[in-house]
Amino acid sequence: MQTTAIVAKFEELFKNEPLISRAPGRVNIIGEHTDYNDGFVLPASVDKEMVFAIALNGTDTVNAFALDLNEQDSFKLDSIVPTEGWINYIKGVVAETAKKGLEPQGFDVVFAGDVPLGAGMSSSAALECGLATGLNKLFNGDLSKLDIVLASQMSEHNYAGVKCGIMDQFASTYGQTNKVIKLDCRTKEYEYHTLDITGHKLVLCNTNVTHSLASSEYNTRREQCEAGVEVIKKKYPEIINLRDVTVEMMKEFEGEMDQVIYNRCSYVVEENDRLEKACEFMDKGDLVNLGKMIYGSHEGLSKKYEVSCPELDFLVEQTLDDDSVLGARMMGGGFGGCTINLVKEDAVDAFIDRMTKAYKDGMGKDMLAYVVVIGPGARTEEAVEA
Ligand code: GLA
Repeated sequence: MQTTAIVAKFEELFKNEPLISRAPGRVNIIGEHTDYNDGFVLPASVDKEMVFAIALNGTDTVNAFALDLNEQDSFKLDSIVPTEGWINYIKGVVAETAKKGLEPQGFDVVFAGDVPLGAGMSSSAALECGLATGLNKLFNGDLSKLDIVLASQMSEHNYAGVKCGIMDQFASTYGQTNKVIKLDCRTKEYEYHTLDITGHKLVLCNTNVTHSLASSEYNTRREQCEAGVEVIKKKYPEIINLRDVTVEMMKEFEGEMDQVIYNRCSYVVEENDRLEKACEFMDKGDLVNLGKMIYGSHEGLSKKYEVSCPELDFLVEQTLDDDSVLGARMMGGGFGGCTINLVKEDAVDAFIDRMTKAYKDGMGKDMLAYVVVIGPGARTEEAVEA
């Protein structure tokens, strides 16, 4: 991401020298809708990011400029309330980092990014974590990375209204070049695993669909999982949430709870199981079986968890007979956004051409493709000359 334009705009608007902070979007290899059930996820930060130029302004006001939208907005530190639009993310981060002990001060900020919006690549987490990381430095704070993650997650809950799990903010903050993070969302313990896909690439296919139901359906899925846990607890009181339920245990409840609730819960339990197997395959370099786990994830997300959409299903179906694709599935919250595809490197160009054409012919829509590179997580740096 080019910072020069951001710094130039900052200097033009605020006549000051800024600090630069940046945070990336993420992919997730497998482990979808498992994070808020205390399960496991396997994300990685990518080379698409949100970039901020920020400086103290000695007032009690925050002035923000969204360069991509060419829009400016401001708010006072003593009256931070959730409103509409992108300024909510800035407000949320200021308010939630303050709760973690980062005393707010007035500042000016210009930001922009190349994380596609609404594509399931966590542009909002990149926005939150990039700003939180920058403010921590600007205010001489001592927030840990985990504080930054948790404050950013709470900003999403309390200011954007989505009761998201921890995956996106964790990946954006803790990401490392060429590594995927196996995160235990209950304990927050994590391991970096090398994703050796030599001879292959991760390709994202963007449906260009952003579903308006995404956030309300997301919150509903969360409630359905909790409802299932209540039923399971009657037989197994030691269960805290779906993380504690095995595939075998889950089967005992078929016909014993509402079918929709059963489908939701069994998907989550199976997805945790698939993730464990996927990690073993990944560590052994067995990409064929890793790909099978990825396909299994899509099947569950589409049929049992019902967070896919016709466009995502179409893109996954298009890969089933393609020998150059080892695995494909929808990625992120669902109802639109991207599929993630593990594709043989020498076939990537042909794959993108074929998929783009098939999507246009079959769904009448334009598809966008990104060949993803796994890059570092959130960080700050001194401004470069504009
Ligand atoms: C969104 C949320 C994450 C996670 C995914 C689904 O990206 O922000 O916390 O729940 O959906 O895996």
